[in-house]
Amino acid sequence: MPAPTPPAPPSPVRLSSPPPTPATPSGGAMPDPHLFVVLGATGDLMQRKLLPSIYHLHARGEVPPQSVVLGAARKPMDDAGFQALCTGALAAAGESDAAAVQNWVSSSLRYQTLGDDGPGGPYVSLASRIASLEQERRLTGNRVFYLALPAEAVPKVVQGLGQAGLSKSPGWCRVVVEKPFGRDLASAQRLNQVLHGAFDESQIFRIDHYLGKETVQNLLVLRFANAFIESDWNREEVEDVQITVAESLGVEDRAGYYETEGAMRDMVQNHLTQVLTLVAMEPPATWTADAVRNEKVKVLRSAHPLRSEDVVFGQYQEGSVRGQTVSGYQSEPGVKPGSRTETFVALRMEISNWRWHGVPFFLRTGKRMPAKSTRVVVTFRAPPVSFFPRSTDYQMSPDRLTIMLQPDEGFELSFEIKVPGRAIRTQTHRMRFHYADAFGTLSDGYEALLLDVLRGDPTHFVRADEVEEAWKLFDPILSNPPPVRPYAAGTLGPPEAQRIVEEIGHRWHDDEPPAGS
Ligand code: BG6
Repeated sequence: MPAPTPPAPPSPVRLSSPPPTPATPSGGAMPDPHLFVVLGATGDLMQRKLLPSIYHLHARGEVPPQSVVLGAARKPMDDAGFQALCTGALAAAGESDAAAVQNWVSSSLRYQTLGDDGPGGPYVSLASRIASLEQERRLTGNRVFYLALPAEAVPKVVQGLGQAGLSKSPGWCRVVVEKPFGRDLASAQRLNQVLHGAFDESQIFRIDHYLGKETVQNLLVLRFANAFIESDWNREEVEDVQITVAESLGVEDRAGYYETEGAMRDMVQNHLTQVLTLVAMEPPATWTADAVRNEKVKVLRSAHPLRSEDVVFGQYQEGSVRGQTVSGYQSEPGVKPGSRTETFVALRMEISNWRWHGVPFFLRTGKRMPAKSTRVVVTFRAPPVSFFPRSTDYQMSPDRLTIMLQPDEGFELSFEIKVPGRAIRTQTHRMRFHYADAFGTLSDGYEALLLDVLRGDPTHFVRADEVEEAWKLFDPILSNPPPVRPYAAGTLGPPEAQRIVEEIGHRWHDDEPPAGS
């Protein structure tokens, strides 16, 4: 009997794969066409920082060309007036291709005056302008509201947007908030309440420009893509961690803002704390915004409460920076006589978790220091015993990883080698990686962060609970501050900054690379 013919195999089901998402020239998905509304569009932040970044994204083809920027502010102006203002700002920012600028400005920039007139107030007029622009450009309701505003104006504007129904849209709708996120825990909580009154946390992008820096983002790659680093990144192997953000500039023309903030609020609560959390966090379970930010929050929750004696405040006096005599803080324009505002902070803290218990973290920032330098220095423990002969030629320092966040971005690892010759002599040398050698100039972090907003990726933005945990840490110091010590401009801060490190047997690592490295 002939064998029965086996049934024909079912024909394979063909799943049609979705068309590939178009990529931008710098990689990553092309954002959706959108309307980018800047509130406070005539101000300094928009004109000096935001506008050039938005222009670069458009000029490089990183955003769809039909997207529009709608500037909004109280100053009465029409589209042409705003376009002229922005053309001037882009020229001042060094954009030399006047024809390209002109072309973009006239096709992509519009303006809406936020007057008090009109039924329903300024945000109702804004809403109807948005609707007509979206219709004109065939946009589907994807919107960003960028609050380029002084901190005190933010709550009212957020409420206005919410009441005018602008926190919801037919597409996606996101709001970008600049620091300061409050000036203590209570005001940060109030600000979060106002924001959450109109927007969902998933719509809120709190921007800290340090998180846009390539080298800051690289901290996670350096740690979690290199197993040998991660296996040494703990209390068994690390002697101490130092985070320094030194600036050679003084307060410039920002005394009005700086006098009420000081270095603790201006730099430590945000930029230094963000770097600290990235250095100290555990690996996230997945590469998602919430998984990353959960780990950062845990670091802040594990930090030991700070004591006044662990913190040093300083204020710069007249001195010399790079051979130039510069005046003291008290003589800067706009600074109140007798001001006690700190322009320098150094502190030591401990993160009491299984990874870091017992390892001191030293944080330091100041204006009018000898040079601009932002770096993380991780010093590893010295070998427990050494059998090399001790002699004058013998030197052995602990291995050290110095991560240069800016300028001269990169990192270097110092380690001991045998000096060639018959005797055993050791010397410290450094292995270096410079971003500039491998990749040329790094782009401004602002552009990367704007693209993240447009793509809806909040990984490199600060979540509400992160802001509040950071204030919980620093509030006790701000309400009971240490004395403000003088330091000469061009130095590394007041001598007391040495004390908090040396009294527990450590020292700041400010040394230059050894000769021959
Ligand atoms: C800002 C501070 O957030 O950061 C300034 O308000 C400071 O006072 C600046 O100068 C430093 O940023 P960067 O990127 O130059 O280190």
